[in-house]
Amino acid sequence: MESLWRLGADPIPTRSDAPRGADVVVVGAGLTGLVTALLLRRAGRTVTVLDAAGPGALASGGNTGKLSLLQGSVLSSIRAYHPASLVRAYVQANREGAAWLTAFADAEGVSYTRRTAYSYAQGSDGASTVEEEAAAAMEAGLEVHRVLPTAEATGVGGLPFPIVDAVALDDQVAIDPYALVRALTARLITEGGVVHSGIRATGVRVVPRPRVRTTVGDVWADHIVLATGTAVVDRGLTFAKTHGLRSYCVAFTVPGEVPDGMFLSVDGPTRSIRSVTPGDGPDTAQLIVGGGGHPVGRQPSERAGVDELIAWTRAHFPGAEPVTSWSAQDYQSHNLIPFIGTLPRSAGRISFATGYGKWGLSLAPAAALRIVAETTGTRWRDRSPWMREFATRMTVPADIARGGEENLQVARRAASGWIAAERRAIPVPQPAEGQGVVAQRGGVPMGISTVDGQTRAVRAVCPHLGGVLAWNDAECTWDCPLHASRFAPDGTRLEGPAVDDLSVEPRSAR
Ligand SMILES: Cc1cc2nc3c(=O)[nH]c(=O)nc-3n(C[C@H](O)[C@H](O)[C@H](O)COP(=O)(O)OP(=O)(O)OC[C@H]3O[C@@H](n4cnc5c(N)ncnc54)[C@H](O)[C@@H]3O)c2cc1C
Ligand code: FES
Repeated sequence: MESLWRLGADPIPTRSDAPRGADVVVVGAGLTGLVTALLLRRAGRTVTVLDAAGPGALASGGNTGKLSLLQGSVLSSIRAYHPASLVRAYVQANREGAAWLTAFADAEGVSYTRRTAYSYAQGSDGASTVEEEAAAAMEAGLEVHRVLPTAEATGVGGLPFPIVDAVALDDQVAIDPYALVRALTARLITEGGVVHSGIRATGVRVVPRPRVRTTVGDVWADHIVLATGTAVVDRGLTFAKTHGLRSYCVAFTVPGEVPDGMFLSVDGPTRSIRSVTPGDGPDTAQLIVGGGGHPVGRQPSERAGVDELIAWTRAHFPGAEPVTSWSAQDYQSHNLIPFIGTLPRSAGRISFATGYGKWGLSLAPAAALRIVAETTGTRWRDRSPWMREFATRMTVPADIARGGEENLQVARRAASGWIAAERRAIPVPQPAEGQGVVAQRGGVPMGISTVDGQTRAVRAVCPHLGGVLAWNDAECTWDCPLHASRFAPDGTRLEGPAVDDLSVEPRSAR
């Protein structure tokens, strides 16, 4: 499963030798890490970026490329429990991040198109959400306009099906996110930064001097930035204050017209729709449809979600043929406001950012701006007001309730995974191609899978905090239902807060 942006694209050139220390070591070459590194380099710091895979390997190279201040129902969801000032701060952060990114794209010749973004309702429940979203957006100073539920609602923005209601914001951006990652990496290297691929961080220490522990040894720094999606070394336990959401995208060729707007439904089933033109992506597809989002490792069949997206698109866009399908995950905080700052007990030496809730094209550059302001000692009164507002945000009872519900789910999954594994003992029949099964041997859950004709067994216990892994039948991976770590069939760690691989076990399927 490769994203449309990465499919057939040349690899981004980086270094693979042993990294040297620097003023700042940034772990993670996604949007957060690359923008932070570039800004710190421009502030005169020596910078080394380390990535376990390579630039844009995860969400930054696998999103839908919509840079928009209208984001489904995010604004009204924040406003429901928080003061208007926090929504304004959220919009301001996104506006600053978006302005930085488009200025960078202009300077580097990364093309993009301007589109109208729509948050739309498919049913009557969604209509009230659209109304609330319009009110929250207007209150926050966004110049949105309503697309009222009249006959005109058929074909809004070029959609080939009727909708019930929508709110729209003009002049938003569609862009190829991997082209952005490529340009950021190249610019950083040109300006003296160093980017290494294939180096996984396994820990950090701040005493006696900050250093990142990696698969190839320690890398020293004065300051460390963890830009790893979810912080891989988390002294603030943010993995328990966010949840990892995985969703699916399919790119299609379409013989007829495609809509020119960018769409996100506010009610279920979630649909994210955008067309692709030569100005904002490769010419191998004309349409991207996304959806099927779910907490990582908690879906009975991920494959069914992809199939459903394909069937839905074919029904609404006659002749649509899939070119590629892919998946990625992002982390959402319980109150939808990202976590950006320094880790507790790090003496201010380790910064991190997470919790963009699938809006990192604008929030990652915003986070980078804040990390750089903190790292370079910009006085509070000289920082953007949103940075102060985020820093002093209050947790309200609704946030605690949402966090409590998520932690309850985690506790339930933690217990049920072990109980389910207990019920099935090895030996088990050999799984069919593309399938995996968890069974216990001596009370320990084992994951047995068959992929590309090879049957393997791994210890199906997450090395992070012991979650029992579940098989992802769309991507052929072992996924953790607790805090969203993921592993290849051979046990290699792919992403999430875990830093170690799974141990490989002797095959014992029947
Ligand atoms: C399906 C989907 C669609 C989305 N669509 C949009 C959209 O249209 N618009 C929008 O604004 N946002 C969108 N997003 C969100 C956006 O893609 C993310 O918020 C953003 O890319 C996060 O960037 P990041 O740099 O923080 O993390 P990532 O892109 O996940 O980068 C983290 C990097 O850290 C590396 N890493 C991880 N662990 C280690 C380790 N231990 N050692 C070394 N390296 C490590 C990884 O290899 C990776 O390269 C979408 C997200 C998803 C999942
Ligand atoms: S990611 Fe925390 S237990 Fe698996």
